[in-house]
Amino acid sequence: MKNNAEFVFFSKWLKSPMSVASVTPSSTQLAKAMASGLPDKEGLVIELGGGTGPITHALLDAGVRPDHLVVIERDPHFHRYLQKRFPDIKVLCGDALQLTSLIEGLSAKAPTCAVVSGLPLLSMNAHTQKQLLKQSMHLTQGKGPFIQFSYSPSSPLKKTVERELGLASRCVAQVWRNVPPAKVWVYEQNEAYQLRFG
Ligand SMILES: C[S@@+](CC[C@H](N)C(=O)[O-])C[C@H]1O[C@@H](n2cnc3c(N)ncnc32)[C@H](O)[C@@H]1O
Repeated sequence: MKNNAEFVFFSKWLKSPMSVASVTPSSTQLAKAMASGLPDKEGLVIELGGGTGPITHALLDAGVRPDHLVVIERDPHFHRYLQKRFPDIKVLCGDALQLTSLIEGLSAKAPTCAVVSGLPLLSMNAHTQKQLLKQSMHLTQGKGPFIQFSYSPSSPLKKTVERELGLASRCVAQVWRNVPPAKVWVYEQNEAYQLRFG
């Protein structure tokens, strides 16, 4: 599976480097570091940009119930791949920027407790980043983390977006065993913002 995943990933990157944003899937170490940012409470976990599924696998390994995991992947080829690899979880083929309507369309029973993103956040402009983070905070009611990895040494979320949405950022892991090395960031909405606008 691993070599096949790498081949599928690399061929996709050749066709659309901006959207795939990496030549190889995330390493096991990076995927585990992403999963370790999950909160203790139960609830729906939404993964954005599943690719070939290394983070999906780590989330299940970390104890997320299959019926509490939803993956959104825009590329139809990756979408089919994920459906075959994880037949017990819900994999939606769609644009993460339509997050709210995709999730509300599911009429999920559990409230969302976290959003875990493998999207190329760094290459998005401030408007797009804000759209994405706003919907994520709406779904978690400002109480769940938005977990993101990035190859950049600094936070991939623009400062203006952090400020406008009242977000606090924390780097929770530096993962050297990944190509390229990556950091894991957690964004949470501060309570003052929730009280005023939540
Ligand atoms: C850097 S890859 C990460 C893949 C996988 N999570 C991993 O860690 O190996 C980015 C993934 O996001 C997907 N993607 C990019 N933009 C998207 C969007 N707007 N909505 C949903 N998926 C998107 C790409 O197709 C690709 O699978």
